[in-house]
Amino acid sequence: MTFFAPAATGLRGTLVAPPDKSISHRAALLAAMTSDPVRVTNYLGAEDTHSTLRAVQALGAIVEERPDGLVIRGPGLRAAAQPTGVIDVGNAGTLLRLLPGWLAGQADGVWILDGDESIRRRPVDRIAEPLRRMGAMLDAREDRFTPLRISGSRLDGIDYELPVASAQIKSCVLFAGLLAAGATSVTEPAPTRDHTERMLLQAGARVERDGAVVTVHAQDELEVDHIEVPGDPSSIAFHAAAAILVPGSRLVLEGVGVNWTRVGFLRIAQRMGAVVVGPLEDPQDGIPAHEPVAELDVCHSALGATVVEAEEVPLAIDELPLVALLGCFAEGETVVRGAAELRFKETDRIALVVEGLRGLGAQIEAAEDGFTVTGSGGLRGGAMEAHGDHRLAMLGAVAGLASREGVEVRGFEAAGVSYPGFEPDLAGLRAGG
Ligand code: S3P
Repeated sequence: MTFFAPAATGLRGTLVAPPDKSISHRAALLAAMTSDPVRVTNYLGAEDTHSTLRAVQALGAIVEERPDGLVIRGPGLRAAAQPTGVIDVGNAGTLLRLLPGWLAGQADGVWILDGDESIRRRPVDRIAEPLRRMGAMLDAREDRFTPLRISGSRLDGIDYELPVASAQIKSCVLFAGLLAAGATSVTEPAPTRDHTERMLLQAGARVERDGAVVTVHAQDELEVDHIEVPGDPSSIAFHAAAAILVPGSRLVLEGVGVNWTRVGFLRIAQRMGAVVVGPLEDPQDGIPAHEPVAELDVCHSALGATVVEAEEVPLAIDELPLVALLGCFAEGETVVRGAAELRFKETDRIALVVEGLRGLGAQIEAAEDGFTVTGSGGLRGGAMEAHGDHRLAMLGAVAGLASREGVEVRGFEAAGVSYPGFEPDLAGLRAGG
């Protein structure tokens, strides 16, 4: 589907942030690991998170949809069922990386995970390596890609140093740690999103953080009655960026998750001069017991360039394409480095952000681990291809609103992977909310 985003003036109104994708995946998985019913409210209704619900159903969970949310009755921590066919993760990288942590420690059973064309290009060796060290039995195509076959086995705790700052790998090892003998520790090269740790704590697991080291202990069972999913800072970042870039805009964004490990983009935008007002969580030493939520006020702002270094990258990883877009409008040279992980997302987001924005008139150069954008007073507009990547589809639409001639986004339906309501939400703001 092709979507044309015309040049806009004055976005106005109030928007409730759509439910968080990362937290929805984790809520469904954790509920499935719990034997008593778990109520999950504000679960994201998008393609990726539907894949997770289907997966937990295949593993023996009963998912009931009620007017006020989901009730998930899981098989429990040690009783994942054995489905007859392959578990299809669709386009969901988070599901592909987290689920094997739970399955690897089951007493017996064999599971095969596979997904769409994009999933088949995404590496799973990054989780196979630590899981094998724990005693897990896994096989992957070329030892690196799906289909991924997992046989349940006895696991032992390990001390694992993450070679890349990845919340997905960390979460996978922590899930396996719940079933492993002894303690399992993960050391991060830089802080990454900590939703798994917060949720495990909420579910009564013994989990601690000491500096860069997160430790989880073997668990008999998990216990949690209710998980409320906050609004997604990564999804709402598109509207925040639109408000910053389109002259005359002012938006109120409600229900936004402001966990400090997720608000890197908002902090980068503020550093560039964007007016983003609201209580973002400060960095925390330990593991907070809940997910903070806030209301944000965002206005059109004049921007200056900035440099984003490796340490900040995981805190803004999914929003770095938007940093590139802001860079097109900022005075000076905006640089992102230490972000080679972008090449392993739904698409190679370094290559395709550079290609996409350059086609709209940007002065942008790719590096192996990031990009440099020279602000040139805005963007002309034109056409951009989403390549099946939800974040590229939404990037193109926001670029269109901020451009002089508008942008035609080809393959716009990809937005449904994380934010099916993106286009109507945007239309509401263009009409003045
Ligand atoms: C996610 C972590 C990030 C992010 C992805 C979701 C998660 O991946 O890019 O969209 O839910 O844990 P990595 O932690 O592997 O970089």
